[in-house]
Amino acid sequence: MRPLCRLIDIPDGGAKGFPAPPGGFIGLFVVRKGEQVCVYLNACPHLGVPLDWAPDRFLSADASRIVCGTHGAEFAIEDGLCIAGPCLGDRLEAVKIELRNGVVFVPDDAGL
Ligand code: FES
Repeated sequence: MRPLCRLIDIPDGGAKGFPAPPGGFIGLFVVRKGEQVCVYLNACPHLGVPLDWAPDRFLSADASRIVCGTHGAEFAIEDGLCIAGPCLGDRLEAVKIELRNGVVFVPDDAGL
């Protein structure tokens, strides 16, 4: 596992993107609700492109859904299930995390 960020680096109720590690080409993004953290590959299941239309813009205006900036697909924050849009029923690829002492760890190869 490798450290990705500190919990306090993510605004509560917000999201933040992280570029791919050296040698990788798919970044990750983190969504935080209190002490709960979800990490996904930053790749839309529709076309594989990054979801954020601007840096760290992953969520709907009310921060209740993850939104793809390309064609507007909407995903549940908790499990990445697409609930509206062209990839309805598909899922974002979740990344297993460990939270230790306020630091979010992800597998070494996550985002490669
Ligand atoms: S690329 Fe994400 S909805 Fe089309």
